[in-house]
Amino acid sequence: MSPAPKILVTGGAGYIGSHTVLALNEAGYRVVVYDNLSSGHPEAVLPPAKLLAGDLGDSAKLDSLLAEEQFSAIIHFAASIVVPESISHPLHYYHNNTIKTTGLIQAALKHQIRHFIFSSTAAVYGSPEHLPVSENAPLNPINPYGRSKLMSEWILRDATQAYPYFRHVILRYFNVAGADPRGRIGQSTPEATHLIKAACRTVLGRKEKLEIFGTDYPTPDGTGIRDYIHVTDLAKAHVLALEHLAADSDSDIFNCGYGHGYSVREIIAAVQKISGLPLQTHTSPRRTGDPAQLVADPEKLRRTFNWKPQFDDIEKIVKSAYQWEKQRPY
Ligand code: UD1
Repeated sequence: MSPAPKILVTGGAGYIGSHTVLALNEAGYRVVVYDNLSSGHPEAVLPPAKLLAGDLGDSAKLDSLLAEEQFSAIIHFAASIVVPESISHPLHYYHNNTIKTTGLIQAALKHQIRHFIFSSTAAVYGSPEHLPVSENAPLNPINPYGRSKLMSEWILRDATQAYPYFRHVILRYFNVAGADPRGRIGQSTPEATHLIKAACRTVLGRKEKLEIFGTDYPTPDGTGIRDYIHVTDLAKAHVLALEHLAADSDSDIFNCGYGHGYSVREIIAAVQKISGLPLQTHTSPRRTGDPAQLVADPEKLRRTFNWKPQFDDIEKIVKSAYQWEKQRPY
């Protein structure tokens, strides 16, 4: 029997990366994580996956890793992801996301790695006119984060056209939330800005108040609406994307969400219900770079990959996030 395919996962010590590594372990792949540990944690990389600490900017280290190991695919998570930070530090985002992705694609081509899965974002659509958003909606990012990811998508697409053996899947994530339902890993960035994490930290008394950024959006309750997808369902989509490429399918792009959205106030209500605790809130102005609503059309993902989400329920998402947060010491 031939050995299981070996996969390089950049950013695999981070939130979505570590959950995908867990799904790859369980599917029998051999996994090497390459992560600079700037926001990831070594203990989030569960065995038998292996961790090599390193930055994508260290091209010599990356090159020797790719020369030593015969990877059949790369799943590329490593990136900066916070929209407001991208507005205050745009060059950091273009360097860390776009330039380092270019270097990784160059390294993949040099070592003839054939398959590449790229973590993109709903932020490439900006403020979409029509909801739910399908993959062919206009691309109009409204912040440097979204632009840094869209440029990476274009670079990847051009590389694929120039080198026919090289194929990719781009996954555009909507709002990823929740934690491994068995409590092994979760969102571990202490100061993570994600709404559900911030709300759980607030009810647990680790954050004084939850700020509601904007109550004057053109939505039923005036707060922003997002499509929250459970990280375990998203992790599974990566395993299916690998199988899609291994079956010689064409390069493609998929939106990853559930197809329905929740407002900030609905999330607050869910966190209060699940925790049984009150949540202190404070109304603040809109956050720059935030669209009013983002809801995915996930039909293509469901149809092409036969993706069957198991946690499409906001209470399950909040429950796993809350339990993870509760068992943590900070
Ligand atoms: C998130 C991702 C981003 C991705 C996008 C896709 C992170 C850090 N950001 O951005 O990478 O491109 O989804 O849709 O994962 N909010 C509050 N108070 C808070 C925090 C948030 O009111 O303390 C509101 C926001 O204004 C927004 C919603 O909650 O309406 C979600 O915000 P957040 O969890 O920060 O994610 P996004 O900015 O949507």
